[in-house]
Amino acid sequence: MPSPLEPQFIQDFTHFEQHVAKLISRAGWTIETAKTNQPGYDLVAKKENLLVAVQVKWLKNNVTAPQLLSFANFLDSNEGKQFNLGWFITTKGFGGPALSLIRSWNKDTKIRCGIAHENKLVNINGFEDIASGNNNGTTNSDNENNTSKKLYFGIFTCKGGVGKTTVAGHLAGALALQGFNVALVDLDPEQNLQKLVGDGVFVPNPNGVGTTIQVFDESVWHEDAARDCQIVICDCSPALERNPKKLVERLDYCIIPTTLNPLGINKHGKVIQQTVQEIRQINKNAHLFVVVNNFKDPGVRRFKLLKQVYATAYDEISKIDNKFHCIDPEEVCIRASDLLYYWGIHILENPDNPASRLAFDLIGGRCYPREDFISLADYIERKAGIGILRTS
Ligand SMILES: Nc1ncnc2c1ncn2[C@@H]1O[C@H](COP(=O)(O)OP(=O)(O)OP(=O)(O)O)[C@@H](O)[C@H]1O
Ligand SMILES: [Mg+2]
Repeated sequence: MPSPLEPQFIQDFTHFEQHVAKLISRAGWTIETAKTNQPGYDLVAKKENLLVAVQVKWLKNNVTAPQLLSFANFLDSNEGKQFNLGWFITTKGFGGPALSLIRSWNKDTKIRCGIAHENKLVNINGFEDIASGNNNGTTNSDNENNTSKKLYFGIFTCKGGVGKTTVAGHLAGALALQGFNVALVDLDPEQNLQKLVGDGVFVPNPNGVGTTIQVFDESVWHEDAARDCQIVICDCSPALERNPKKLVERLDYCIIPTTLNPLGINKHGKVIQQTVQEIRQINKNAHLFVVVNNFKDPGVRRFKLLKQVYATAYDEISKIDNKFHCIDPEEVCIRASDLLYYWGIHILENPDNPASRLAFDLIGGRCYPREDFISLADYIERKAGIGILRTS
C-alpha cells in the first residue's frame, strides 16, 4: 500500500515529526519536543489539563505489535504515568498483529493510534479529538541533533553455516534482556532472521519500561525507523561484497563466530584471517571479536590442546591488528545445545508461518543459550563499552 503522505513529509523523520506536530497543534494543542535521547516519546502535547506523550514512528512498513507494546509499557511506567494519554502516530499503517492488539484494548486504554495523512490524523482507535482544527503550528524541533548515536554490530564471517543468524538473533535477545532496544537488520537474501524473528519481540520488564527487538529487511532499513533502538545488529551475508558497503563501514563491532573442531581448527584460523582482511578493506576501526559457537566440552586435556592451537591460529592477526580480540572460550563461548539446534526448525515445519521464539526457555531450571548469550552481552558491554549507551 502506498503511503498516504506526500514525499516531502516522509522523506525523513524530522519532516514527518514536524508534520505530525503541525496536525496536532492545528487542533489547538501546544507541542513541545522531548529532550534528546528521551526514551518512550518524541513530542509532548498539552491542552487544558491534559498531558499527552506522542510517539512518532517513521516507518517504511507497518507498525508491529512489539513496537506498540513497548509504548504501552512506557505509559504504565512511573515516568509514563504522568501522561493522561499516549498517541502513537505512524507513516504507513498497522500490521495484523498490531491491529489485533489494539482491538484487544478497551475504551479505558490510554493509547490512541493513528496514521498521519497529509491533512489529518486518521484514526485507528479514539483519535476523533484531534482530527480537526486549523491553526498552523510548528515545533521548535532540534531533531538535526536529536538522532542518538547507535552502536552497530555486524555478525560476519566469510564461512557459511557457523551460526551468524543464531548469534545475531540471540545476542539481540540478551541485549534486550539487559535493557536495550535492538534493531536487527537482515542482510542475508535467505532472510532466515526475518522469517524466524517475525514481527519482532517485546521483552517486558517488571521494574521499568520493557524493550523491543525489531527486525528490518535491508531494503527497508533506515536509522530513523528505529530511533528508539540504541543497538543495531546486522546479520551479514557470508559474501562480504553482498553486504551494503555503507553498513560495513558503519560497524563499531563485528562478532565473528567460529567453531573449535579438532580437524577444522587450522582451516578456521585461515577463514578468520581472510574474514579480518576482508573487513579491514572497508572498515579499519571496528573492534573484531572471535567467539566460539557450538562448543562441546572435550574434557580437560583435549580442551587445553585445542585452546592452544586456537590461540596460536589467531596470534598473528592480534600482532598486526590491535582491535582484533579472540574471546577465550573458557571465559565466554556459545555451547552446543538442542534449543539452538532446533531454533530454526519452524522454517521447515511451518514455512508459511515460521516465526519462532528465541531459544531462551529453561529446561531443568537452566538454559545454556540464555546463560551464554547473556555472558556474551556482558563481555561485550565490558570490553566494548556499550555501557555508554545506558542513560540511567
Ligand atoms: N550453539 C549451537 N548449538 C547447536 N546448534 C547450533 C548452534 N549454533 C548454530 N547451530 C545450528 O547450526 C546451523 C547453522 O546456524 P546459522 O543458520 O545460524 O548459521 P549462519 O552462519 O547464519 O548460516 P548461513 O551462512 O547459511 O547464513 C543451524 O541449523 C543451527 O541450528
Ligand atoms: Mg544465516
